[in-house]
Amino acid sequence: MTQSLRIALLPGDGIGKEVVAVGKALLEAIRARRGLSLELVELDLGADRFLRDGATFPEADQRMVRDECDAVLLGAIGDPRVPSLDYARDILFGLRFGLDLYCNVRPVVCLADSLMPLRDKTASHCNMVVFRENTEGVYVNIGGNFKKGTPDEVAINEDVNTRKGVERVIRAAFQYAVTHGRKRVHMSDKSNAMPYAHGLWQRVFKEVAAEHPQLECKHVYVDALCLQMVRAPESYDVIVTNNLFGDIVTDLGAALQGGLGMAASANVRPDDARWTSVKARCRGLFEPVHGSAPDIAGKDLANPLATVLTVGMMLSHLGVEGVEAQLTQLVRDAVAAGMTTRDLGGDKTTSEVGRWVIDRV
Ligand code: NAD
Ligand code: IPM
Ligand code: MN
Repeated sequence: MTQSLRIALLPGDGIGKEVVAVGKALLEAIRARRGLSLELVELDLGADRFLRDGATFPEADQRMVRDECDAVLLGAIGDPRVPSLDYARDILFGLRFGLDLYCNVRPVVCLADSLMPLRDKTASHCNMVVFRENTEGVYVNIGGNFKKGTPDEVAINEDVNTRKGVERVIRAAFQYAVTHGRKRVHMSDKSNAMPYAHGLWQRVFKEVAAEHPQLECKHVYVDALCLQMVRAPESYDVIVTNNLFGDIVTDLGAALQGGLGMAASANVRPDDARWTSVKARCRGLFEPVHGSAPDIAGKDLANPLATVLTVGMMLSHLGVEGVEAQLTQLVRDAVAAGMTTRDLGGDKTTSEVGRWVIDRV
């Protein structure tokens, strides 16, 4: 790894600032100890910036991220002082849609038996990866209100599913299963209630599954998936689903991992000219699954381990070898040593947990 990497840090709001501070110090430590050529640039985006000058995601910042950075490490966006959250969508979806990061890869992996909340299950029972479609669905912000504020109000958010959008994320999930030695791929939808949109998912999934006879390919309705993830999480290896369902089932999944403070994610765009016309230096947006947690923000209480795992996913995606495995092991070690924040039953602060991990890199 000789090429120089440039990473944009986007702390954002609430505990995003606290966990990205840990992520930043961790990256600096990895740089120092591995002699990595790594440059960090900080983006001043989020509620503070919006309240200060009205800017959400200015074009100059968009260009800088796209053409001059290899990846973005984001904390979280969302602040109760700005109830509409328009600025948050501008930033988050500006990155996900703008860079066509069509795979939101969310490992639902429980790293320690002590974190497993289910009776009669151990960490070994929870080891799956959710591929969440990340550029379509109800997230496209097509819709509107009619007769707003009256008893006759009509409110519409359209659900957009395109052949290309569905096929590329399903193919990416299969590709992942093949390259990572996973045996099963589940596609989850609600085609019993949504025959047009999710009929498309059904057809594409069957087509792609037929190309992978060595894999066990199954369909599961999303409501049944929620039940089964709790009853028997060991049923799943790779799950592919749409944007909204992927959002919901990965919060449920986080509960199996020990909570939102343990769930990492990567928003990526597999490099394949068939599926994307975007040509950007920036190869991904990496973020813990959790939000800005206003209830604990500013108190040094947030669990930074999801961000530690996210840094591992980011460096791995950028071709830095060995760090992801090391960080994953350090997270296991921290949990085993009781070096944890309140959400995991410990009494340590964000900074203490962060420092403990960084000292051991
Ligand atoms: P949240 O994830 O912020 O918090 C849910 C619960 O989990 C809270 O009780 C919180 O204290 C706890 N929690 C979350 N992360 C934690 C951590 N690292 N350590 C310890 N506890 C943690 O979800 P929410 O309360 O529904 O949303 C708050 C704001 O964040 C909203 O504005 C929402 O839109 C936004 N949000 C942003 C992102 C993102 O930027 N990617 C993701 C989710 C939510
Ligand atoms: C997430 C979040 C976002 C989403 C919100 C903040 C729009 O919940 O990243 O999981 O729904 O994608
Ligand atoms: Mn979410």
